[in-house]
Amino acid sequence: MNRNLELKLLDELVELKEGKQPYLDEAWVKPTTGKYFDEDHFEAERKHVFRRQPVIALHASELGEAGAYRTLEMAGRPLLIVRGEDGAVRAFYNVCRHRGAQLVGGGQGCSKRFSCPYHAWTWNNQGDLVGVPHEKTGFPDLRREEFGLTQVACAEYAGFIWVCQHGSAPRGLNIAEHLGPIATELKLLGAEGMRIFASDSWEFNANWKLIIEGGLEAYHFRVAHRDTIAPLFLDNLSSYQCFGNHIRSVLPRSHLGELSGKSRQDWDIRAYTNLLYTLFPSTQFLVQEDHIAWIQVEPLAAGKTRLRLSTLAPAADQVPARENYWRSNHNLTVRTLGEDFAIGEGIQKGFCSGANSHLNYGRFEGALARFNEAVSNHLPA
Ligand code: FES
Ligand SMILES: [Fe+2]
Repeated sequence: MNRNLELKLLDELVELKEGKQPYLDEAWVKPTTGKYFDEDHFEAERKHVFRRQPVIALHASELGEAGAYRTLEMAGRPLLIVRGEDGAVRAFYNVCRHRGAQLVGGGQGCSKRFSCPYHAWTWNNQGDLVGVPHEKTGFPDLRREEFGLTQVACAEYAGFIWVCQHGSAPRGLNIAEHLGPIATELKLLGAEGMRIFASDSWEFNANWKLIIEGGLEAYHFRVAHRDTIAPLFLDNLSSYQCFGNHIRSVLPRSHLGELSGKSRQDWDIRAYTNLLYTLFPSTQFLVQEDHIAWIQVEPLAAGKTRLRLSTLAPAADQVPARENYWRSNHNLTVRTLGEDFAIGEGIQKGFCSGANSHLNYGRFEGALARFNEAVSNHLPA
């Protein structure tokens, strides 16, 4: 982040804190509740958002060497992501081109070849068909070049592997363009030089947007997180800025007040705030002083979401004494998210009661409205 911007963001929050004011939108918003539980609405989101937008699949270190592969499901479709012998990462549908069996089971591994468990058609890790049992008799004149694995657009950018199921240009995915003005800031986070210290994933019974929204306001910290992170942050103070569909929020830590007594050259945004990048549609990076909590949500149904939390620590910093520090940070995020899940599942149940036809986003919850507008803008009218 450039220095002028860093000081401007800190100035804004110091001024609000001193004036005992929250960061306010013009007006409060009353969205309808249907978008959280209606299955048709969910299917529209999956089709028009999750199958069209670039979405982060993996951290680059998860496919560290040639031949490394992972299978996963994104937007309801089975994918196989592989690092080829040429070092490039490719994504394919994990679907055999003979009669459609799931080509690779077992989650992850390292392989030069993928052989279908049904009749053993075989592909190399660049997706080329290299073996067909009884080919000459069963499939005379088969042109192998027409039966490569079906490719999905994929790119490696800022330390992550991104996939986009839309479009026909597997190699032409431009993530810098997708991120727009926030691309440079993300590059500067240095995730390329980080490792996944720990990663956990859960399925919970609530709409995916509820989890993203949980990070977009600090109004609930003092109440819902009183036993975990509340003492670390100021009550109900966070600012935000939109970059197209993406949002950068700044969450001031409880010692922000010290800045007024410090020389401006010692003002450091990562020491006095947490930055939260919400990358449309389903990624959040909570950037802390020396590490990043990466939250990735995968919508499974209107009322069901898979969430993966990974703590990214500097790859070079593997001093044994630091392991306890990363572990306690990871565990604190797990406990905090657990508090959010319990509330999210309660909210989801409440939708079905019909008690509320609308929700209320207060003037200090403006980032929720912006995020939901970005989703709506991608859906047919
Ligand atoms: S379905 Fe895969 S080889 Fe037949
Ligand atoms: Fe929360």
